[in-house]
Amino acid sequence: MKKLHVNLSGGRDYDIFIENGLLQKAGERIKEVFQGERIAVITDSNVRPLYADTVVSSLEKAGFAVKLIDFPAGEQSKNLETVVQLYDGLLHPDPFPMTRGDLIVALGGGVAGDMVGFAAATLLRGIPFVQIPTTLLAQVDSSVGGKVAVDLKQGKNLAGMFYQPKQVLIDPQTLKTLSDRIFFDGLAEVIKYGMIRDEKLFQLLEGCKNREELLPHMEEIIRVCCHIKKEIVEQDEMDTGERMVLNFGHTLGHAYEKLGHYSTYMHGEAVACGMVAICEIGERQGITPSGTAQRLRALLSTFGLPVKAEKVPIKALVETLAYDKKGSGGSITLVLCKRIGEAILQKTSKETFAQWVQETI
Ligand code: GLY
Repeated sequence: MKKLHVNLSGGRDYDIFIENGLLQKAGERIKEVFQGERIAVITDSNVRPLYADTVVSSLEKAGFAVKLIDFPAGEQSKNLETVVQLYDGLLHPDPFPMTRGDLIVALGGGVAGDMVGFAAATLLRGIPFVQIPTTLLAQVDSSVGGKVAVDLKQGKNLAGMFYQPKQVLIDPQTLKTLSDRIFFDGLAEVIKYGMIRDEKLFQLLEGCKNREELLPHMEEIIRVCCHIKKEIVEQDEMDTGERMVLNFGHTLGHAYEKLGHYSTYMHGEAVACGMVAICEIGERQGITPSGTAQRLRALLSTFGLPVKAEKVPIKALVETLAYDKKGSGGSITLVLCKRIGEAILQKTSKETFAQWVQETI
């Protein structure tokens, strides 16, 4: 079992537990941070048949009354309409209407964590919640740090807030039921941590050739990623500085996702292409050592991740930059790779960045 503590002020600090088989112990763990009696577990239609029974039984065994709610799996559900349906389910009197003294559990991947967190943050002005992420992407990134959101027609995650969970329970055994595509999609975010903070992690990944070789390392890999993320969040919870490094590869990644109408590329796949592209730009600008993009390309390719997306038309790029949360006015904060294991932030005008993109990729 591995345990990390996210140190935040104002009683918003919490533990992250990483342990094989943790789903069966969810009730015991949650009892440590929640003294109430009623819990709503919200999950999606894919995860419900796999893990909802295990979590619900564990909660019931620990003495909680449980309400189970699901929503259709997929990014297309991550919107305000689904949130309204979740509110309806949460407030429905059968078997009990939720109050602020109750608890919500978000069980599933990034969509479940982000959207259920958003519903928890807003219903009755805030109901406490616990994250139980079941995809690699959610385990290493979205379940930690309190970013909760839904998508708007203008772009992803544009309606949201910071609302920290009471606990994060990670069971690496849930990775076994992921398809290769979804598993490796999450691995793109793991590679990102190597690029921005941890060359040793990058080297560990370089030493593995496939999913089987990664599996024995997964508990430790998740711990390392959560440790990096929690340290960054502790320094900059509200994402006004250092936390932006977590968006390495994401500026162009978001453009690729949008251009592919959120169906050509999954998030990690788009970020993979975005990381290569920003390294190429960094190399051309003399910030990133030459050969970095090639080393990154080789690692991504080992795991079947894409390394090059279609060229982004300038108009689409400018539209994406307009909604980029790292932007302010005419400028954007770029995350560039200084060397593998170290990222830097550089404020650049959106015009200049668009020009670099046109020239380089
Ligand atoms: N996923 C990036 C962040 O939490 O800041």
